[in-house]
Amino acid sequence: MELFQWGTNPWGQETLIRVSWDLLYLFFWAGIAFIVFHVVYAAVWLPKLARANGGQEESAGVDVPESIERHTLWARIFHWVMAAAMLVLLVTGFFPIIGIQFPWVTIHWIAGIVLTISILYHIVHATFYLDFWSIWILPDDMDEAVQRVKRQMGQEAGEIKKHGKYPLDHKLYHTAVMLAGLAVIGTGLVMMFRIENVLVPRNAYLLSEPTWGLMYTLHGLGAVLFVMLTLTHIYFAIRPDKFWLTKSMMFGSVDRRHYLDHHDPERWVVSKESKG
Ligand code: HEM
Repeated sequence: MELFQWGTNPWGQETLIRVSWDLLYLFFWAGIAFIVFHVVYAAVWLPKLARANGGQEESAGVDVPESIERHTLWARIFHWVMAAAMLVLLVTGFFPIIGIQFPWVTIHWIAGIVLTISILYHIVHATFYLDFWSIWILPDDMDEAVQRVKRQMGQEAGEIKKHGKYPLDHKLYHTAVMLAGLAVIGTGLVMMFRIENVLVPRNAYLLSEPTWGLMYTLHGLGAVLFVMLTLTHIYFAIRPDKFWLTKSMMFGSVDRRHYLDHHDPERWVVSKESKG
């Protein structure tokens, strides 16, 4: 298996061109393998774990409403615009590579600009209007991760607190998407100078050949990572036990039972004034 594609410049030197598309298949199958592993793990291991812990206890006496806002309308609009742009980018970027040819470049860069604008909007919205720290990995999460590993290995782990608005796995996922997103957006915007488009004049000499190679390589790395991230994201979104979260991304709210089953009211404080 190759990791990179190399070419030869006019002086006979080897230069980096892009990632090898072997990585596309690698990340696709890694995503499928993760899903198969998780289906088995969730069917065999999770029920045992739930029995060992005596199920989730109710947080009695907590004064919360029947329906709790999880995602504001604007947060949901952002999510679905970004999801649509991402799917268009994956299809237009990779279908030609797997042999389905069509004029993809214009649709691709337009979807790229839509993704870029939606991410810029999200950064401003999350920084000033949402609970900014709720999605970042904080020291508390690391303690919880150690406890969970101990518990998986059958050791005494003490009481594991319920999580705030986002559990550690969601935070890890968000961090991976952010890094891969920065890679494809940062490089994609520069790569606009390599193609004919209405926003910037074409200028293949903007960067040296090796630097272009680096741009295409980073773009390709972020892109293949998104194949795995998107597959696993859609898998979790359609799992019956996670569907209450997917519904909240459509309609905005979660019900009291799911809130109390999964969240610590002290870590995700909800009130009439609380931010979604
Ligand atoms: C998940 C997101 C994305 C995926 C999966 C993706 C995928 C790809 C792939 C596979 C290629 C071909 C690369 C090559 O030939 O080495 C490509 C090229 C390109 N992408 Fe993306 N991309 C994404 C995001 C973006 C964004 C955000 C932009 C713009 C802001 C963008 C703009 C471009 C441009 C201009 C090219 C160059 C086309 C060419 O040189 O022929 N892409 N993309």
